[in-house]
Amino acid sequence: MHKKRVFSGVQPTGNLHLGNYLGAIKNFVDLQSKFECIYCIVDLHAITNRQNPKELRSNILETVASFIASGLDPKKNIIFNQASVAAHSELAWVFNCVARIGWMNRMTQFKEKAGLNKENASVGLLVYPNLMAADILIYKATHVPVGEDQKQHLELTRDIAKKFNNDFNCGEYFPIVEPLIPKEISRVMSLRDGKKKMSKSEDSDQSRINLKDTKDLINQKIKKAKTDNEPIPSEIDGLKNRSEAANLISIYGSLNEIKMSEVLKEFGGKNFSTFKSKLIESIVDKICPIGDEINKLLKDKSHLDNILALGAKRADNIAKENLKEIYKIIGLTKFT
Ligand code: TRP
Repeated sequence: MHKKRVFSGVQPTGNLHLGNYLGAIKNFVDLQSKFECIYCIVDLHAITNRQNPKELRSNILETVASFIASGLDPKKNIIFNQASVAAHSELAWVFNCVARIGWMNRMTQFKEKAGLNKENASVGLLVYPNLMAADILIYKATHVPVGEDQKQHLELTRDIAKKFNNDFNCGEYFPIVEPLIPKEISRVMSLRDGKKKMSKSEDSDQSRINLKDTKDLINQKIKKAKTDNEPIPSEIDGLKNRSEAANLISIYGSLNEIKMSEVLKEFGGKNFSTFKSKLIESIVDKICPIGDEINKLLKDKSHLDNILALGAKRADNIAKENLKEIYKIIGLTKFT
């Protein structure tokens, strides 16, 4: 039996938004009191696409700042950046040799990200899922909080673990990981198009609430957020084909930790302007203090570097030992 251990990775992006918070970070915060948790800023995954070095560095710091400002405790959890722990890359190479090319070609995220010009995508983008499997399995993590969009990659992680265990006849050396996808989550959609995910890459800043937005900006963005002409329904069924309405109701529920059905009980029959002012209040209450704290933390970069350095040491201690075992299973010796 493997000890319960949570691992998750987040790509370093600047300017994190409400979707990142409700879809991932808030869940991490809830898990920290229940499990041993390791949270990794996956800078090596980021370079599968071309990055500006200055921006990459500042995005990494902004991501740690957002973690800490949201309530993740760097003493309770291990928080670090992937590039600090060499064993991730070392195990990823091993997995490049375990996983099959056909498995990579089936990954829908690769197809989406590579687009029409597959031949011109980086090799790193193709083997991205092997590095992700290495991130998780180098710690023998058992539970991985991720969004729906990462389910296929987790399935692949399980396949790699099974093939390795089987090829090397080593019982259940690698655990078969379980996704942790909270029930009432929290796929936050664009404020302008309820069918698209809220995203940093959407051109219009009006489509998202950034963690660092001011009160005035939040007020203005929510007031302008797309809805429809019907009043708010009293039952979930009434949200069918009303993706923008459903999105705002879901955001309100997540922020206040109540079910969507409860939100509808409170607001059913009312118009959107009444609901929107309550929603603005909730967002301002929960998000503005986080934004203020991010700005404060970003003023002291060496403090953030120290947090990452300490996390990296703790992660490295676990990863190094496990890599030794893994190499031994394979028949490799590391003399350094
Ligand atoms: N691929 C994940 C994403 O884009 C990020 C990630 C990298 C990750 N390594 C991981 C998530 C390990 C969970 C576990 O969201």
